[in-house]
Amino acid sequence: MGRLLRTKPLHLLLQESQESGEHSLRRTLGPWNLLALGVGAIIGAGIFVLVGTAAAQHAGPAIVLSFVLAGIGCAFAGLCYAEFAALIPVAGSAYTYGYATLGELFGWIIGWDLVLEYAVSAAGVASGWSGTISSLLRDFGVYLPARWAATPGTPLVLWNGHWEPLAAVQPLLEKSGFVISSLPHTSAWFNLPAFLVVMALTLLLVRGVKESASFNGVVVVLKVATVLTFIGIAAVFLFHHPEARAANWHPFIPKNTGTFGQFGWSGIVRGAGVIFFAYIGFDSVSTAAQEAKNPQRDMPIGILGSLAICTVLYIALGGLLTGVMHYSRLNVAAPVALGIDATGVAWGSLLIKVGSLLGLSTAILVTLLGQSRVFYSMSKDGLLPPWVGTVHPRWRTPWISTLAVGFCVALFAALVPISVIGELVSIGTLLAFSIVCAGVWVLRVKQPDLARPFRTPMVPLVPILGIAISLLMMVSLPLDTWIRLVVWLGIGLAIYFLYGIRHSRVQSMKASFPLGEEPPAR
Ligand code: ALA
Repeated sequence: MGRLLRTKPLHLLLQESQESGEHSLRRTLGPWNLLALGVGAIIGAGIFVLVGTAAAQHAGPAIVLSFVLAGIGCAFAGLCYAEFAALIPVAGSAYTYGYATLGELFGWIIGWDLVLEYAVSAAGVASGWSGTISSLLRDFGVYLPARWAATPGTPLVLWNGHWEPLAAVQPLLEKSGFVISSLPHTSAWFNLPAFLVVMALTLLLVRGVKESASFNGVVVVLKVATVLTFIGIAAVFLFHHPEARAANWHPFIPKNTGTFGQFGWSGIVRGAGVIFFAYIGFDSVSTAAQEAKNPQRDMPIGILGSLAICTVLYIALGGLLTGVMHYSRLNVAAPVALGIDATGVAWGSLLIKVGSLLGLSTAILVTLLGQSRVFYSMSKDGLLPPWVGTVHPRWRTPWISTLAVGFCVALFAALVPISVIGELVSIGTLLAFSIVCAGVWVLRVKQPDLARPFRTPMVPLVPILGIAISLLMMVSLPLDTWIRLVVWLGIGLAIYFLYGIRHSRVQSMKASFPLGEEPPAR
């Protein structure tokens, strides 16, 4: 057991974080890049899609409180991430923090768990991207071949001379009294748009982190502008329509239906568990720590700044959306576009769809970046094969792992129907958050005197609250999500015992340095 809990010595980590030369990552990112990376990863399918489901099925207008609750939980975790990212500015993020504080087994578990947060969520967001581009083009009379624009098995019907996903046309058909079974049916083969967008963003990431960050910066400005436009239009509409406010915002907390999670206070908690997905991504800033020019100062800015910006935007958007349209009607694929339609602004829906498309692109980009950086770190530690950590001599990116991750994510997005992906990603991320919060506390106890560029306030209260809120949101997720998490971690442990433990650099060191007994870090 002692072997499994060997920690990675901090002095080694700090040495790694200072590596330079053609086989190391290039330090080019400043505070604005990091802030934009955070916002780029955060605003995505959660706020453009899941917000509708969470309001319609769980919280009603009190979705605002769900956003506040999830935002507070993220803030506690964000403070802990900021301490670690400034102290140990290496690419492995939560994986490395777990390795340095709780030991190799925990490090591996978090690293493997982060695949759910980064790779799997990138695939899920790519599916959303594919749905959005199909819908946008359809608005212009351009129909993508439906068999090639959805995952295998997705039911399609022939309607108006075009194959359409059943889910997209069902409400319309039912409303107009059509017998759906009388229409010709088939099913889809391959989600080509999802595959292509992931591959295109992968190539950008291979080309360079600076290039990727520049693209991200431009797109982030556009997508924040989209969200602000919605907020502005909806606020003006509600100001002039008190009757809409009265009808849609009352009761603010709809009465619980008798089932846990369906409205009432339990609905707010369940809504927070669902909407938590919308916040995921602020922590991926920490995977860029080894590419930041001044990580000690800029990591906390990137992590906490992006989280603060998005929390304010989300609370405003959630409140206004349930004001312009009754929550019960928001369980649709594009609730924000529907909401803006309700204000009567004719161009609004088009704007929102274009904005979401942009938003989803950077969410995919930054999560792919995070995944390849975590694998890079795991490979450097010997827990994954050496080729995974190879850095391109000119572009200075972990190009082989970026390509491998990109290709697997692209295939996953193209072939696997991803209906429960949001909850799976959320539970994986919440687990990582809990372990990071615990890690901050452990390190404060074991090495109280380390020079920490950023200190989480009120330790251990903040880490304890971070763990408590994360666990509360985890508990509110369905049992089958838990089963999937356990199966996934089981696969990870099998790989660790078959490969990682035998090739680990820390295991092969003559002596391990338990925390507190290792040579001074600085
Ligand atoms: N926060 C990201 C999104 O909402 C994962 O798409």
